[in-house]
Amino acid sequence: MEGALVLMVIDYTRYPIPRVRHHVSSQAYLSAPQQQWAEWYPPTIENITWSEVYGIGEPARVIDLGCGRGGFLLRHAMAYPHVPIIGLEIRKTLVDWINGVAGGEHMHNMRALWYSIVNGLQWIDPESIDYATYLFPDPWLKRRHFKRRAFSPHFLDEVNKVLRPGGRLYLATDRNEVDDFQRSTIVRHGALKLIEMNDETAHRWPFAFKTDHQLFCERKAIPYTLYCAEK
Ligand SMILES: C[S@@+](CC[C@H](N)C(=O)[O-])C[C@H]1O[C@@H](n2cnc3c(N)ncnc32)[C@H](O)[C@@H]1O
Repeated sequence: MEGALVLMVIDYTRYPIPRVRHHVSSQAYLSAPQQQWAEWYPPTIENITWSEVYGIGEPARVIDLGCGRGGFLLRHAMAYPHVPIIGLEIRKTLVDWINGVAGGEHMHNMRALWYSIVNGLQWIDPESIDYATYLFPDPWLKRRHFKRRAFSPHFLDEVNKVLRPGGRLYLATDRNEVDDFQRSTIVRHGALKLIEMNDETAHRWPFAFKTDHQLFCERKAIPYTLYCAEK
């Protein structure tokens, strides 16, 4: 990513975070054709007009999938003001809050969209994304909850379509079960190449800022893995 890294700080006391339920309705994690349309289900997207999303008006070059409270998204947007980034998040309260911060801080290169990533990325131009991030996804550890995981061969098809050649899907998790599941799904899928990222390998994690969940893990001394899958 070009340009000097500038890390600014947001005064979050200006943006009191609302109470947010840990999960939304269990049905919201399933793809749209299975849904009875309801006001709590994130809208699907057919086409997008980028000038209606944010001031920069250009197609996104980076997507943060499951952006949560948006810590990574906001820090990325501040560090790279010329790089348009969108966050996709299933919890509307968080999306509204993130966009309130973005507006309050006059950030023109980022927005969060209320969207479930299980409904695909067909509204993003093929080969237009430099990298996508899928950082600390909800683990859904019980077998009967596996169907709520967004990560799947279909998810990889969608990510693979939008990544430019050489583009990457950055992954982080603090759950071994999720780590194993994601790695085996990537290997079986075959379109993307796994790359380990730690201080012992040639490939280092490229971000100088952290996600909210990553900071939580560090406060609690919970180990986590960072890696990527490259097109
Ligand atoms: C554990 S949080 C991590 C948030 C953030 N990436 C971080 O590292 O701090 C996982 C997020 O993914 C969101 N999520 C789960 N399933 C989703 C889906 N199908 N579409 C969009 N977001 C989803 C959850 O609502 C939650 O905010």
